[in-house]
Amino acid sequence: MYLFLKAIHIIAIISWMAGLLYLPRLFIYHVSAKKGSDKSETFKLMETRLMRVIMNPAMIVSWLLGLYLAFGVPVVDMKTDMWFHIKLLLVLGLTAVHMMMAGFRKKFENDANEKSEKYFRIFNEVPTVLMILIVLLVVMKPF
Ligand code: HEM
Repeated sequence: MYLFLKAIHIIAIISWMAGLLYLPRLFIYHVSAKKGSDKSETFKLMETRLMRVIMNPAMIVSWLLGLYLAFGVPVVDMKTDMWFHIKLLLVLGLTAVHMMMAGFRKKFENDANEKSEKYFRIFNEVPTVLMILIVLLVVMKPF
């Protein structure tokens, strides 16, 4: 059962990460679409569906299963497993990135985005870096 739950945890993370990496790409192209145009309305639909159908449920499942593995099974010793404390901090960062994206999506929906294409290009790197650090940490468990 533990391995099965861990597999579902990883599947949920893959889905969450897909959204965290793709949504800023949509924002990059959305910036240059004329407000009110068909293109802009299509981007709005794609962004809303990605956030509501994939990213929100995937984030919730990742958190629920991760916390269950850590404290329900439990596979983590909070006194000695420093790597897990750092992982939690990095995952909180990833969750903050998710919330920021939800805010950007809302702005786009109301045709009120103020951020530039360059901003979203740089922002796009944040979840990538966090993901690399988290995977290195959970696989290598160096501390
Ligand atoms: C949302 C909050 C999260 C919590 C509470 C959490 C917690 C956990 C726990 C307790 C395990 C089992 C560790 C073990 O078997 O030694 C695990 C496994 C794993 N987690 Fe998470 N996790 C979360 C999010 C993430 C994220 C965002 C990523 C990647 C970006 C990730 C990647 C992994 C991987 C790759 C494994 C398998 C590690 C292995 O089998 O050695 N987790 N997670």
